[in-house]
Amino acid sequence: MYDNNPTLEAPVKDIDESKQGQVYYNDQGVLAHGQKKFYIESYGCQMNFSDSEIVASILAEAGYFPTRIMEESDLILVNTCSIREKAEDTVRNRLKIYNKVKESKPETVIGVLGCMAERLKSKFLEEEKLVDIVVGPDAYRDLPNLLNVAEEGQRGINVLLSREETYADIAPLRLDTNGVSAFISIMRGCDNMCSFCVVPFTRGRERSRNAFSIVAEATDLVNQGYKEVTLLGQNVDSYKWENPESKEIVDFAQLLEMVALIHPKLRVRFSTSHPKDITDEVLFTMAKYDNICKYIHLPVQSGNSRILKLMNRTYDREWYISKVNRIYEIMPDCAISSDIIAGFCSETEEEHQESVDMIKFAKYSMSYMFAYSERPGTLAARKYPDDIPADVKKRRLQEIIDVQQAVSLAHNKEDLGKVFEILIDGESRRSDQHWKGRNSQNKVVIVPKDGVSKIGDFVHARIVDFSSITLIGELTNV
Ligand code: SAH
Ligand code: SF4
Ligand code: F3S
Repeated sequence: MYDNNPTLEAPVKDIDESKQGQVYYNDQGVLAHGQKKFYIESYGCQMNFSDSEIVASILAEAGYFPTRIMEESDLILVNTCSIREKAEDTVRNRLKIYNKVKESKPETVIGVLGCMAERLKSKFLEEEKLVDIVVGPDAYRDLPNLLNVAEEGQRGINVLLSREETYADIAPLRLDTNGVSAFISIMRGCDNMCSFCVVPFTRGRERSRNAFSIVAEATDLVNQGYKEVTLLGQNVDSYKWENPESKEIVDFAQLLEMVALIHPKLRVRFSTSHPKDITDEVLFTMAKYDNICKYIHLPVQSGNSRILKLMNRTYDREWYISKVNRIYEIMPDCAISSDIIAGFCSETEEEHQESVDMIKFAKYSMSYMFAYSERPGTLAARKYPDDIPADVKKRRLQEIIDVQQAVSLAHNKEDLGKVFEILIDGESRRSDQHWKGRNSQNKVVIVPKDGVSKIGDFVHARIVDFSSITLIGELTNV
């Protein structure tokens, strides 16, 4: 399918919480007269944003083209997330807006994709009267059939999970791209069963994608001028693919090397690493190649061993600390970030304090921080009472946020005077006289425009100022 990849140059911006629900579109017009148009919004993790690009590719083959104007679309899709209750509330509110469009234009088809579709299945059609199709994350190839069903006035659902589907042969239609960075899904599902987490239920069993198809996709991106790829999976370190012919196994360290070798100036990133699975081989491979970014997202979830056991994370505080030490030993310039949950079932003040202390110990450059939200059907929901009052969760979360902010500020202060290579990926949000880029450690660096450098260029920046979230640099020749 790579040969007939629709070469619609498209948008990618990196995904962060502030961009949730951002509407993806294609800057090149795209909307040939008389053709059907789809509008898609994505919520949740990077995997969902990456899946939306697979969906866009499947729809393009079926004659649908993307639009950013909801009102003029024939098909409104929302790729949903179930990770916390708030994520689902957001989607329900969006559905109300889509339904307004459908009321004035009843032929509009509304489709719910992704994790919430998988979690709620046919309940969605019962609860949300105006939803026409419900499609789970492993059923996107069935979209054209389901659309035919919907056009005939029926409602369609496919939420079958698969043990094999990786969409390996589908060339994603890059939506909302800056032409510089792109995501590549290397695996799907998760077998870990962390007790708080809904993902194993919504995404099914873990499976790894054909390594050669990953290399082919990355090579294709390089040929299109992309400078950075992020290899995505819920737990990339357990990537394992067996070559059906040679029976050889490719593990994550080997895959990283294969991708790094495509081009010395292709930056390679990956997310997410599970502390129990990240190996020395991965760390040595990172250290060996300059183009593998020195940044690891290593979610701790809690700094306390009893809570980690209840969470079924399969490592304890000491194991985690030894991983952090090992990373800094092998790559002293590596940045580590984390996910932390405040107020998990039965967490005491002392145990909470250990999460706070872990931020200081591990010197996270940044963290995603959440109050625990009970998810129906998970082990924690079945076994442990959600007994930390909302106001206590909120206060603990705020303490975590405050300490992380101070640690991020100190982390950035240490960069003063240092020179980093940065990849320019866009204009600064605050000033059209400045570029925004990232260094290897994934920190955002703002530099003044010099009239020569452009989006997609590597430049060197000496850090002259900082805040807790951004570095300010000046361009330098070394
Ligand atoms: N696969 C990744 C995480 C995916 S979900 C990993 O294992 O680290 C992203 C983050 O959402 C998790 O790391 C966790 O911090 C948070 N999260 C997941 N379930 C949650 C829940 N029920 N309540 C609050 N936060 C949750
Ligand atoms: Fe969820 Fe745990 Fe799997 Fe991450 S590793 S997706 S937190 S079950
Ligand atoms: Fe959300 Fe599903 Fe990702 S639950 S975090 S969109 S895997």
